[in-house]
Amino acid sequence: MTVVMARWKCTRAGLLMLLLLAVSFSSVPCSPDEGVALVEMMNEWHASFPTWTLGGDPCEIGWEYIICTDGRVTTLNVSVTGISGPLPKAIGKLRALNTLDLSANNLHGDFPDELALCQELDFIDISRNDWGVDFPLAITKLGKLESLYASRAGLTGTLPRKFYKMKSLKYVFLGNNTQLTGELERFSQLSSLVNLTVWQMQWKKYELPSQFSLLTNLEYFNCHDCNLVGSLPESWGDLQNLVELSLQNNKLTGKIPESWKKLTRMYKFRIDGNFILAPFPNWMFTSWPNVTYIYLTRNLFYGVPYNISYLEKTYNITTKFSILRWDCNYIGGPQPCSDRGNNDCSAATLKKTEVNDVPAKFAFDPNCYDDLNSTDSLNRVLYCGDHGHIGISHYYKRKEKNWEAPEKVHRFTIDELAKMTSNFDDSHIIGIGGFGKVYSGMLEDGRLVAITRASADGLQGHAEFRDEVTLLSRLHHRHLVKLEGFCDEKDFQVKVHGRDFHILAAVFNSSM
Ligand SMILES: *[C@@H]1O[C@H](CO)[C@@H](O)[C@H](O)[C@H]1NC(C)=O
Ligand SMILES: *[C@@H]1O[C@H](CO)[C@@H](O)[C@H](O)[C@H]1NC(C)=O
Ligand SMILES: *[C@@H]1O[C@H](CO)[C@@H](O)[C@H](O)[C@H]1NC(C)=O
Ligand SMILES: *[C@@H]1O[C@H](CO)[C@@H](O)[C@H](O)[C@H]1NC(C)=O
Ligand SMILES: *[C@@H]1O[C@H](CO)[C@@H](O)[C@H](O)[C@H]1NC(C)=O
Ligand SMILES: *[C@@H]1O[C@H](CO)[C@@H](O)[C@H](O)[C@H]1NC(C)=O
Ligand SMILES: *[C@@H]1O[C@H](CO)[C@@H](O)[C@H](O)[C@H]1NC(C)=O
Repeated sequence: MTVVMARWKCTRAGLLMLLLLAVSFSSVPCSPDEGVALVEMMNEWHASFPTWTLGGDPCEIGWEYIICTDGRVTTLNVSVTGISGPLPKAIGKLRALNTLDLSANNLHGDFPDELALCQELDFIDISRNDWGVDFPLAITKLGKLESLYASRAGLTGTLPRKFYKMKSLKYVFLGNNTQLTGELERFSQLSSLVNLTVWQMQWKKYELPSQFSLLTNLEYFNCHDCNLVGSLPESWGDLQNLVELSLQNNKLTGKIPESWKKLTRMYKFRIDGNFILAPFPNWMFTSWPNVTYIYLTRNLFYGVPYNISYLEKTYNITTKFSILRWDCNYIGGPQPCSDRGNNDCSAATLKKTEVNDVPAKFAFDPNCYDDLNSTDSLNRVLYCGDHGHIGISHYYKRKEKNWEAPEKVHRFTIDELAKMTSNFDDSHIIGIGGFGKVYSGMLEDGRLVAITRASADGLQGHAEFRDEVTLLSRLHHRHLVKLEGFCDEKDFQVKVHGRDFHILAAVFNSSM
C-alpha cells in the first residue's frame, strides 16, 4: 500500500511539474509512467518480453531486465536480448535510471536527445552493436557518467570536443571502433580516468601523449594495434597507479625510459611487436615487484637476460609469472639447447643446461610464435606452457641473414653496435635524416665510425640492402668514406662507415 501511495505521489508531483513548467523536460523530478515508456521501447525494438505488459507497474510485478529502487526503474539491462533498431526517445522518461546496458545486440542508428534527460546515469554499456553513427552528443551531457563501455560499438566520425569535458568519467572503453577518430592527447583532460582502452581506433596523431602523466589515477591503458609511432614518454613514470599497460603491435621506437622504474604497481606489461631497441630490461624483475605478465616478444632487445636458474632462485619466476616472453629479439647469453631444430630439446635435455632447476613442465618449441617464416629469422623458443597458464619463452638469437658479407666488410651484431654507441644513446647522434639516425661510435681499434640505422619506414628488402652493401664495399675512392661494415636483421639495418666529416655528407646524400 505504501508503495502504491509513494508512486501515486510521485506521479502526481510529476504531472504537477509538467503543468507548472509547460513541458520542460529537464526539471521533471520523476517519470509519470515508466511502464508505458518501457513498453514503448520494447515495441520499437521489435521485441517481446513476456512480463512487460501495458498498464502494469514494472517495479511492483518485477519485470525482467530491470531493477527498481524505491519504486523507480534504476537499471535497464537488455544485454544480449536480440533487440534491433535505434534507442527509442522513451528512454528519456526513465529519469531515475543509473545503469543502462544495451550491449551485444543489433542496435543501429541515432541516439535521441532525450537520453540526456536521464541525468542519474553513471553506467552505460552500448558495446558490441553496430550503431553506425557519430559519437552521441547526448552522452556528453550526462554529468554523472562514470563508466562508458563502448567497445566495438560501430561508432564513426570524430569524438566531440565536449567528450573530453566529461570530468566524471572513470572507466572508458572505446576499443575496436575502427571508424572513430579523435585526439588522444585530449584524454589527459579527463582527470578521473582509471581505465582507458582505445585500441584499434584512428587517431589524428599517432603518438603517446606525454600529457597523460596528468592522469594520476590511471590504472589501465590499452592502445594495442593503434599504429602508434615515436617513443615511450619519459613523463609516464609519474603514472604511479598504473597496473596494466598494453601497447603491443605498434611501431614504437626508442628505449623504455629510466623513469618507468617508478611504475612499481605494474602487474601486466605488453610491449610486444614494436621496435624497442634496448638492453634486455632485467630491471623489471626488481623494480616491479608485482609484475606477473611481461611480453617483450618481437622487438630489438639485445644483451643478456638473467639466467633462468638465477631468476628462479631470486624471483621465483615459475611460480610468480603467468607469462614471461622475450622470444624474437636479439638476445645473447648461454643457450639451453644446442642446435636449431633439435627435437630432443625436451625437458630432459634442458636439465643438462643452465635451466636445470626449472620444473619439467617446460617444453621446447622451435617456432617463434607470430613470426611464421621459420626459414627467415627463427631460432628457438623455450616455452613453458601449463595449458597456457604459465609461459616462459626464450629467444636467444635470431638467425643471421645468411648472405655472405663482402670481403673486408664486417657483419656487426646489435650487441657490438650497442657497445660502440653506449646503447644507442642520444649523445652519439650526429645526424637525423629521412633514412634514419646516424650515430658516432668507436671501433675496438679506436677508429671513429659513423653508424647509420635505417628508420622503421626506411628498412629495405634484404636483397636490396645486400646489393647496396656489396656495391658500397667495392667503391674505393679518396673522396669516399669506406664502408667498414653493416648489420642486416629483420627489422634492423645498419651501415657503418669510416668517419670523415668532409665527405660523409656526400655519401649520405648520394646513397642513403
Ligand atoms: C546485464 O546482464 C548480463 C546478463 O544478461 C550480465 O552479464 C551483465 O553483467 C549485466 N550488466 C550489468 C551492467 O549489470
Ligand atoms: C573488432 O571488430 C570487428 C568487427 O567490427 C571484429 O570482426 C573483430 O573481431 C574485432 N576485433 C577484436 C580483437 O575483437
Ligand atoms: C580496470 O583495470 C584494472 C587493471 O587492469 C582491472 O583490474 C579492473 O578490473 C578494471 N576495471 C574495470 C571496471 O574494468
Ligand atoms: C603488490 O600486490 C600486493 C598484493 O596484491 C599488494 O598488497 C601490494 O601493495 C602490491 N605492491 C605494489 C608496489 O603495488
Ligand atoms: C620463493 O618461494 C619460496 C617457497 O614458496 C619462498 O620460501 C621464497 O621466499 C620465495 N623467494 C622469493 C625471492 O620470493
Ligand atoms: C646465472 O647467473 C648468476 C648471477 O648472475 C651467476 O652467478 C651464475 O653463475 C649463472 N649461472 C649460469 C649457469 O650461467
Ligand atoms: C620465407 O623466407 C624465404 C627466404 O627469405 C622466402 O623465400 C620465402 O618466400 C618466405 N616465405 C614466406 C611464407 O614468407
